[in-house]
Amino acid sequence: MTGIKWIAPLLALGLGAGCVEQELDVSAEAGAMLFAENCAACHGADAKGAGEFGVQLFNIPPDLTRLSEQYEGVFPRDYVLGVIDGFHRDPAFSAAMPEFGAGDLGPTVIVEEDGLGTPIPARLLALVTWLETIQE
Ligand code: HEC
Repeated sequence: MTGIKWIAPLLALGLGAGCVEQELDVSAEAGAMLFAENCAACHGADAKGAGEFGVQLFNIPPDLTRLSEQYEGVFPRDYVLGVIDGFHRDPAFSAAMPEFGAGDLGPTVIVEEDGLGTPIPARLLALVTWLETIQE
């Protein structure tokens, strides 16, 4: 996670009363809540792959606490972003998991990495930040 810093929210949410600028929450805590709402049914509340719905699927959702382990101890951040978003998936990936990029992932924040700024939806970022914290 070196070399990454948040520059600024690209979009300040113009919310009714006086258009107050709202800080986008990209914290691990926000990610944990999003996970409970959107992912736990399949991946399990602990992300280990045994959600109530997930266990009935043809492809059992994988243990998401072992992603780093699969990538030689380095959390595969870009891969995970791409999988959740739906932008980058293996041809072998089953269609069971929804492409969250197609839904509302919230306004974008610019993430600077190696001198390049990439817009990433705030909710997507929060989810990935949380997933990184639960690696075993
Ligand atoms: C409808 C069930 C379902 C939901 C909801 C779902 N997933 Fe998945 N997910 C799967 C399945 C099944 C796979 C395995 C894909 C395959 O190979 O077919 C998977 C794979 C993944 C992978 C890749 C893991 C690896 O080892 O390569 C990640 C990361 C992931 N999901 C994250 C999420 C996140 C974060 C959410 C919520 C935003 C989510 N998923 C919601 C079913 C689901």
